[in-house]
Amino acid sequence: MKQAVARAAIEYVTPGEIIGVGTGSTANFFIDELGAIKDRIKGAVASSEATAERLRGHGIEVFDLNDVQSLSVYIDGADEITLHGEMIKGGGAALTREKIVASVARQFVCIADGSKLVKTLGAFPLPVEVIPMAQAAVARRLQTLGGEPRLRVKDGQPVVTDNGCFIIDVHGLRIADPAGLEAQINDIVGVVTVGLFARRGANVGLLGTVDGVKRMT
Ligand code: A5P
Repeated sequence: MKQAVARAAIEYVTPGEIIGVGTGSTANFFIDELGAIKDRIKGAVASSEATAERLRGHGIEVFDLNDVQSLSVYIDGADEITLHGEMIKGGGAALTREKIVASVARQFVCIADGSKLVKTLGAFPLPVEVIPMAQAAVARRLQTLGGEPRLRVKDGQPVVTDNGCFIIDVHGLRIADPAGLEAQINDIVGVVTVGLFARRGANVGLLGTVDGVKRMT
């Protein structure tokens, strides 16, 4: 299903342009599809070091976002998505660069398997990237929102993002007002980015199902 949506997303790639590319297993399928048509595009802006490496592996030029005025499209996966295009992202710890690249794209195309479609966001723990020295203070503030914040660890050590920061995953939230919560968490001092993409959600969703790719706009 991930491969099918990755293939379907190719129709949103504008010839001759630089496009924004996300991070994760679905985005990886998309990069592989993009490799097959690489001569049609000028290049890409990557949302993580891992994505940049994979793009280069296919011979696709990777541009620094500072050298690019705007992007026609940003294509990425999601951990959860609603029918309104609001998303939780950051399961792969790349949420900050994903949000930055998405913010300069004219269109966000979300590619995901159908299991990611939800009525209410929050069953997937909400990732929040934080400045390491503020981790405990931010966690205390997040607790007041009703969830259970847990520092993301791997092999007994905090996961460190491409930006040198930590991730707190907030478990047990039921997010009734995604845009409101996004603004509220953004306001906490020490937060770099919250993995809620509501104010800048997806314009198009391509969801993989057993009956084929379903398109949401
Ligand atoms: C990366 O930080 C995330 O935002 C991914 O886009 C999200 O976790 C989806 O990943 P998969 O495509 O691997 O499910």
